[in-house]
Amino acid sequence: MTNAPSGGKGKKVTKKQASRFRYKWLKVIYGKMDDLEAKLRKLDFLLTMLDYKLSALENLIMAKRENVTIYSPTYVHDTAEIGEGTKIGAFCDIGRNVKIGKNCNIQCHVTISNGCKIGNNVFIGPNTSLLNDKYPVSKKLSPVIIEDNAVIGGGVIILPNVKIGKGAVVGAGSVVTRDVPPNTVVCGNPARKICEWEEYANKKSKKKN
Ligand SMILES: CC(C)(COP(=O)(O)OP(=O)(O)OC[C@H]1O[C@@H](n2cnc3c(N)ncnc32)[C@H](O)[C@@H]1OP(=O)(O)O)[C@@H](O)C(=O)NCCC(=O)NCCS
Repeated sequence: MTNAPSGGKGKKVTKKQASRFRYKWLKVIYGKMDDLEAKLRKLDFLLTMLDYKLSALENLIMAKRENVTIYSPTYVHDTAEIGEGTKIGAFCDIGRNVKIGKNCNIQCHVTISNGCKIGNNVFIGPNTSLLNDKYPVSKKLSPVIIEDNAVIGGGVIILPNVKIGKGAVVGAGSVVTRDVPPNTVVCGNPARKICEWEEYANKKSKKKN
């Protein structure tokens, strides 16, 4: 016999009854906890969706104000500046204090790390990353700079602190480890010069004709 809870009437309860009582209530409590957990998970999902919608809305407002086009979902940090006429594809990540000039075309899945600077009329192909931290994780960032009219192919990785000169071209899939002089075409891993801008422009115009 035991003095376990008895409904408050002072009635003696057996150990078996007490453990049944405990089991019953634990089952109820665990059931409620499962319900609560499921509800919290649902709430978390709804909050994520809301966050996504808000960021899409922010992009839309910015686009209306600045005449830029940002396809959703793309994350643009509040402090990023984007010039008039620029288009940014979906699934891009535009970090803190990034500056992008006018009339740029940034295709989908591009990562532009915090502090990187991009001039006017720059093209960046899909899946390209501009990095900013040579020895991660550190607090000293060394962002990439891309000057006006540069063309960066798809799937390119530009290492921290690299400057891509005016009108330079970087071939698809390159890993750029050093500065690229203006009007130079580079490609490969590590990226090396293959020709001058004039040759690229010639081939481009022949392709058009
Ligand atoms: C860089 C690029 C403009 C060079 O074009 P090109 O001048 O016609 O070059 P070629 O095809 O004549 O190739 C010249 C040499 O460079 C090499 N090469 C060309 N592009 C390369 C690249 N992206 N990576 C590594 N090597 C490359 C070629 O293999 C060739 O080497 P070889 O002489 O030993 O055979 C072009 O290859 C490129 O990458 N364009 C970007 C495409 C892109 O990303 N578009 C994004 C929008 S969809």
